[in-house]
Amino acid sequence: MSNSIRKWIFVLLVPIAVIGVIGSVGSGGHGVALQSANVNLSDKDSLQRGAKYYANYCMGCHSLKFSRYNRMAEDIGLNADNGFTDDQVTAFLKENLIFTRDEDGKQVKTGSLMTNAYSPKAAAEAFGTSVPDLSLVGRSRGADWIYSYLKGFYLDDSRPMGVNNTVFKDVGMPHVLADLQGYQTLAHQEGDDHGAAKLVLSKPGKLSAGEYDRVVRDLTGFLAYVSEPAQLSRKMYGILTLLFLMVLFGFAYALSKEYWKDIH
Ligand code: HEC
Repeated sequence: MSNSIRKWIFVLLVPIAVIGVIGSVGSGGHGVALQSANVNLSDKDSLQRGAKYYANYCMGCHSLKFSRYNRMAEDIGLNADNGFTDDQVTAFLKENLIFTRDEDGKQVKTGSLMTNAYSPKAAAEAFGTSVPDLSLVGRSRGADWIYSYLKGFYLDDSRPMGVNNTVFKDVGMPHVLADLQGYQTLAHQEGDDHGAAKLVLSKPGKLSAGEYDRVVRDLTGFLAYVSEPAQLSRKMYGILTLLFLMVLFGFAYALSKEYWKDIH
């Protein structure tokens, strides 16, 4: 009997281990030492702060063309479950998040897509490259990459924007969070591996290092959510499914024992 228990445990554990290994290998990427973002997508306060920072610091350039303001508000906890009325949500969105205007100069509706008016041509002139939509960047780059990127700007006179980046070499984006973080200088670099670079804060910004990390974590969490809105509920279903399977296994095992108890 104990042999068959062992066999069952083995059968159950192997797929779990395989999934774990694939998951951890898959999230690294790009051969650069990334910092761990540690985002918590069930932290609605963090998601709400992230959305606000995004609207203030990023949306002037980067659209989120698959998201609508009102759906986003619902997902990040601005909803009836948390005591917000529809009017309050609309007011919050208009005050804090919607800075986009339509052709007549009117603020766009809360059901609008989070697009904006930076034309590819203007972007090419300003940055020498297009400004990517960030709807899927949470998936294409991953949270750790975004987190490291937003912490990785450093002064570099040879670049048009005056800055370079440890995880995105010769980046076209300016350091838009410089007033918060300040400016960093590259202190040392081992060989060609950009990831081994050490950054020193040479001109402090408004925030301490810890406060800046929190801002960047909020932004990263928000972008991770945006890239896959369904993951907030999907993870819960996953856990429920595993619990269900465990209970089912218990029953099946007891039943099988009962079945075979007289046959030896
Ligand atoms: C002034 C315009 C501007 C603002 C504001 C801006 N960006 Fe960018 N961003 C760019 C440009 C241009 C690029 C493309 C850089 C390149 O390809 O060299 C870029 C690239 C990126 C990328 C890399 C995308 C990829 O996968 O290649 C991320 C992530 C990003 N920005 C995040 C942000 C976040 C978060 C904010 C707000 C804190 C922000 N950006 C604000 C102009 C901007």
